[in-house]
Amino acid sequence: MRRIAVLTSGGDAPGMNAAIRAITRKAIHSGLEVFGIRQGYLGLISDDVKGLGARDVGGMMQRGGTILKSARCPEFETEGGQKKALHNLKNRGIEAVIIIGGNGSQAGAFGLSKLGIPVIGVASTIDNDLAGSDITIGVDTALNIALEAIDRLKTTASSHQRAFLVEVMGRDCGYLAMMAGIAGGADVVAIPESPCDPESIAQTFRASHERGKTHAIGVIAEGAKFKVGDIAAYFKANHERIGYELRVTTLGHVQRGGIPSAFDRILAARMGVEAVEALLRNEINVLVGFQKGEVTTTPLSEIANIKKPLDLKILQMGHILSI
Ligand code: ADP
Ligand code: F6P
Repeated sequence: MRRIAVLTSGGDAPGMNAAIRAITRKAIHSGLEVFGIRQGYLGLISDDVKGLGARDVGGMMQRGGTILKSARCPEFETEGGQKKALHNLKNRGIEAVIIIGGNGSQAGAFGLSKLGIPVIGVASTIDNDLAGSDITIGVDTALNIALEAIDRLKTTASSHQRAFLVEVMGRDCGYLAMMAGIAGGADVVAIPESPCDPESIAQTFRASHERGKTHAIGVIAEGAKFKVGDIAAYFKANHERIGYELRVTTLGHVQRGGIPSAFDRILAARMGVEAVEALLRNEINVLVGFQKGEVTTTPLSEIANIKKPLDLKILQMGHILSI
C-alpha cells in the first residue's frame, strides 16, 4: 500500500484534529503518502482532495473543529454517490480511506467498504452512541463544557431560588445528558432511553423545594420525549404548585466547540496511530475504538447502524444522590 486518504464526517468533535495529525504523521513515518479529503463524503464525491505533509498538521492539536472541514452529505447514502467516490479514489491511486466520524459516518464507511475499497473507521462523535467504542473522541470535552455550564447555572439558580432546565446535545442518545446530570448533581435527568413527563419533573422539583433545597436543576437531553419547551410551558401553567420559578438554558453547539481536553487529544492520538497500524497489517474494514481501557478494532459489519445501549443503572444512581 502506498497512498491513503483521511476525512472527517458528520458533526465535528473536539479532538478530530489530533486524530488527523496522528494518522498523517504515523502514515508518513511508515512510508505512506497521505491525502486529506475536505468536507467529508461531500469532498469524496466532488474530488476535493489535497496532499498532507507532516508540517500541514502542525500546531492544531489545541484547536477544536476539524482542519479538513466536515459536512453531512445525503448523496453519499445513494449507490450513485458512493460509486462517484470510488471512481475519484481510484483515479488518484488512493488505496484506502480512514474515516473519522460518528454513527452515520461509520455506516457510510461500511457502505464504501462493500464496494471493495479498504476503509478504517475512527470513533469520533460527542454523542457517544457508537457501538464498538466505550467512549468516542470529543465526548470528554463536550461533557466538561456541559458540566461547567451546569456549575455556573447552579450558583445563579441558588441565589434566586430558581429551577433551571438545561438542554444538552446528543441527538437521540442520552449519554451526555445523563453523565452531565450525574457530575453536576442534577435533580432530574430526562433522556430518550428513560422518558420523564413534565408532571413527574414538577413533582421532583416540588419535593426538592419542600426538603429545603435552594435550587433545582433538570438536565434534558435534546432527544428526550418531552422537550424543554414543553416542560417550561407546563411549569408556567403550574407555577404555584412547583415552588420554584423556572429558567431554561439550551447549550447547543457550544458543546462541540473549543479546546479539546487532554483525554480527547490522547484518545485521538492513540486511535489515529492504531488506524494506520491496522491498515498496515491488512486488518481492514474495522472501526478503531476504545473498550475496557484498550484501543480496539471491531469489524464495521458488527457496528454499522447499531445504537450502543446506555447503562441505565447510572441514571438510577443519580436519583439516589439527588435527595
Ligand atoms: P455522524 O457521523 O456524526 O453520526 P451523520 O449521522 O449526520 O453524522 O452522518 C454523516 C454522514 O454519513 C451523512 O451525511 C452521510 O453522508 C453518511 N451516512 C450516514 N448514514 C449513512 C448510511 N446509512 N449509508 C451511507 N452513508 C451514510
Ligand atoms: O452528532 C453530533 C450533534 O451535535 C448532535 O448532538 C446534534 O443532534 C447534531 O449533531 C446537530 O447537528 P447540526 O450541527 O447539523 O445542527
